Amino acid sequence: MSSPTQISLDTIHLGDCLEWLRTVPDNSVDCIVTSPPYNIGKEYEVRRALKIYLEEQTAVLAECARVLKSSGSLFWQVGSYSANGSLIPLDVRFFPILEDLGLVPRNRMIWVRQHGLHARNKFSARYETILWFTKSDDYIFNLDAIRVPQKYQNKKSWRGENKGELTCNPLGKNPGDVWIFQNVKHNHEEQTIHPAAFPEDMIARIVLATTNAGGVVLDPYMGTGTVAVTSRDLDRRYIGAEIDPSYHAVALRRIAGTPDENGYFPNLKTLRDYCETHSEDPAKYRFDAQTAKVASGRAKSRRFSELHHLQELEDRLRLEEGAFGDRLRSISEGLPDIERYRAKELDEVPTLFETEAV
Ligand SMILES: C[S@@+](CC[C@H](N)C(=O)[O-])C[C@H]1O[C@@H](n2cnc3c(N)ncnc32)[C@H](O)[C@@H]1O
Repeated sequence: MSSPTQISLDTIHLGDCLEWLRTVPDNSVDCIVTSPPYNIGKEYEVRRALKIYLEEQTAVLAECARVLKSSGSLFWQVGSYSANGSLIPLDVRFFPILEDLGLVPRNRMIWVRQHGLHARNKFSARYETILWFTKSDDYIFNLDAIRVPQKYQNKKSWRGENKGELTCNPLGKNPGDVWIFQNVKHNHEEQTIHPAAFPEDMIARIVLATTNAGGVVLDPYMGTGTVAVTSRDLDRRYIGAEIDPSYHAVALRRIAGTPDENGYFPNLKTLRDYCETHSEDPAKYRFDAQTAKVASGRAKSRRFSELHHLQELEDRLRLEEGAFGDRLRSISEGLPDIERYRAKELDEVPTLFETEAV
């Protein structure tokens, strides 16, 4: 085992993260954010017994806890492990591991997925989780940096001593712990050859909230470098590791932001960023995961804000609730009064997202 040394900031190590983490000095990192392999047999992981997987993850997490500054934060984003039809939400297993390392739980974010595989024998999985733990009670949380628009931004009090004044914070509201960032799949501007990359806007929220400019952000499972490019764009420093040479190469190309010798970019976003800064025609270039012609402008991009997805999800839930109510009404015809009454009550399912209390 190597002893901790000084490591170069703004670099991504090609190799195993546990070995590399052992070279990172104690108390040197402001924020760790990652999505480790979930042990579900994705192309970048070897599926192992859950017990062995969790033991390996515990060793990585112990190193992460050691390298975090006392004001530091750790975000561990996971989904579920399934075997023989059973489903184990991995965060349930990670929670006690993190507590046993002396870290303090702050939030458990639900990352809502609008789409995904349709299950046959259970409800389809439509969210993953992000556990946020801090090393101490003295941690950074820059709420103003990550506020989102209020639902009724300019609403004013109409009576009482606050009459005429805004009823909610004009800077926006706390985004809450239900997150609706679009996952990086087909039609997402950030799609690379990697099947499970983070969306940059979600990482931006984490980095802005829990670090200050110049802070060091670490991702032990860097994949295609989303944490690196986002941290860099927000004037933070980054470090991390990635074991797969092809993903590591994509990460370096995203960071460089320039076309390769064949005129290829790692994704459409890097291509567009380059063409905007250099006033070049995007149609001249291509990107790795390209299935159609390069859209000529950002206006054609299918990348939407979290607010857009929230609205879309709310609309969809209302539609589904409406359809559910109609079905109940038709089923309930001919039922005894009390059953009809119960069915009517179900019509009044509250929406998931209430307006923030003033
Ligand atoms: C869920 S992906 C992370 C994707 C990344 N968040 C992104 O935005 O591209 C997990 C990554 O961990 C890498 N990996 C698996 N085992 C590793 C190890 N022991 N050390 C470093 N990286 C590893 C895989 O190759 C994979 O790219």
